[in-house]
Amino acid sequence: MSIRRILTAEAPILREKTKRVTQFDASLHRLLDDMVDTMRDAPGIGLAANQIGVPLQVAIIELEDRLTELINPQVVRASGEEMDWEGCLSVPGFVAEVGRAAKITVKARNRHGREFRIKGDELLARALQHEIDHLNGVLYIDSLASLEELVRVSDRPAEVEEEAAAGT
Ligand code: CO
Repeated sequence: MSIRRILTAEAPILREKTKRVTQFDASLHRLLDDMVDTMRDAPGIGLAANQIGVPLQVAIIELEDRLTELINPQVVRASGEEMDWEGCLSVPGFVAEVGRAAKITVKARNRHGREFRIKGDELLARALQHEIDHLNGVLYIDSLASLEELVRVSDRPAEVEEEAAAGT
């Protein structure tokens, strides 16, 4: 396992749709293990494979000591809307308020190719949408009317949660 370099917003690979995983083999498991090391080192609460330069539909989220590995994730249901602060490891040092579905259900496969569903609200819902956006070549800053909406983490209002500011 190793810590990989996290690409920042100007990297073209972050703007490209990633490819579906078809082989649930040792190289996928190595990629996932490296992603976990890289996310924890950052530290962050989520990471998509293209953030470390691998254009595959692979993402991870870790919240409240629960690690979720998502291969080929797809949103199957989304409801409500919620504005909250959001950060990204590929946009280091900044956060912004972003509107997201409040509740979401995602279908994905695990590292062995077995299909599962995960339902989330609050920060988990936000992280799931953020990571799936990454896999489609979308960054949260794309939804801002202006980059002036970005707030430096050091200047952020006190109510911004540490976790949200940690980035995904
Ligand atoms: Co991100």
